[in-house]
Amino acid sequence: MNPIYTTTLTDWVPSIPAEQSAALLAALESGHVLYCPQLAFQFSPAEQRFLDPAWSNGKDKNISLEHDGAPLKGMLGTTDEVATLRGAVLRFRTQAIGLIETLFPAYKRNLRKARTSYRPVPVEGRSTSWRKDDSRLHVDAFPSRPNHGERILRVFANVNPHGVPRVWRIGEPFEALAQRVLPRIPTPLPGSSWLLHALHITKQRRSEYDHIMLNLHDRMKADLEYQAQAPQVTMSLAAGSVWICFSDQVSHAAMSGQFMLEQTLHVPVDALAVPEKSPLRTLERLTARALVV
Ligand code: SIN
Ligand code: FE
Repeated sequence: MNPIYTTTLTDWVPSIPAEQSAALLAALESGHVLYCPQLAFQFSPAEQRFLDPAWSNGKDKNISLEHDGAPLKGMLGTTDEVATLRGAVLRFRTQAIGLIETLFPAYKRNLRKARTSYRPVPVEGRSTSWRKDDSRLHVDAFPSRPNHGERILRVFANVNPHGVPRVWRIGEPFEALAQRVLPRIPTPLPGSSWLLHALHITKQRRSEYDHIMLNLHDRMKADLEYQAQAPQVTMSLAAGSVWICFSDQVSHAAMSGQFMLEQTLHVPVDALAVPEKSPLRTLERLTARALVV
């Protein structure tokens, strides 16, 4: 399968016929990256100076906004400077959410809007450990934030001012990945979900679905032979482009690039046009049991 579906979108509030939006939805839910080379996020002339990694506080991985009323985190600067960059991040947030709501009206009522991040630091040399190394193929799963099957939908914009693309590798389809790794994943230890929650390591109880997704994430990243041998394509995401994918489903690795904005959204499985293609339903089919109880 070619994991990339290139769109002709040029507008953050696109007016497209229903059949075109249905085709985009089908591509997205079946594990494609929707690539929009003609859609760009613009920094205004006054905002251009923030295209510099020196604004990062050096401690946090990204500069981020938890929700639209929140303060900007992870940035060094005066109150005025922080307010100006916050305005740019908030404008991206509004445009990214508007894009998804316009393209996919069926998601609109059920969308849970999460963090917006600005990533001014080069991808190369960013990682501190193999588990955090996003230059290894992985599907997104977060140890402290069990999501019980809820989808992770992400909108990305390469805002590099020097024409430098962001280079990703995209791996095999989710079902093939799951079939390969599932046999090696042990069932969770009895009581472990309760204990992790009681110790505040997780924000909610970790379901068996979350246990499997974390294992997929870790086992892919830990296996260098898998990294080299897995079916994959390299994708160059141009400066001044946007792309959208379900990052809990699309096996991805960020190889190089600098200056990107990213919006995370969550979609319940029941709001999908084809819930059967979700990681939760795929894993339940392969294991023949309910994974969120
Ligand atoms: C990731 O989500 O794994 C990283 C994406 C990126 O920084 O390009
Ligand atoms: Fe990722």
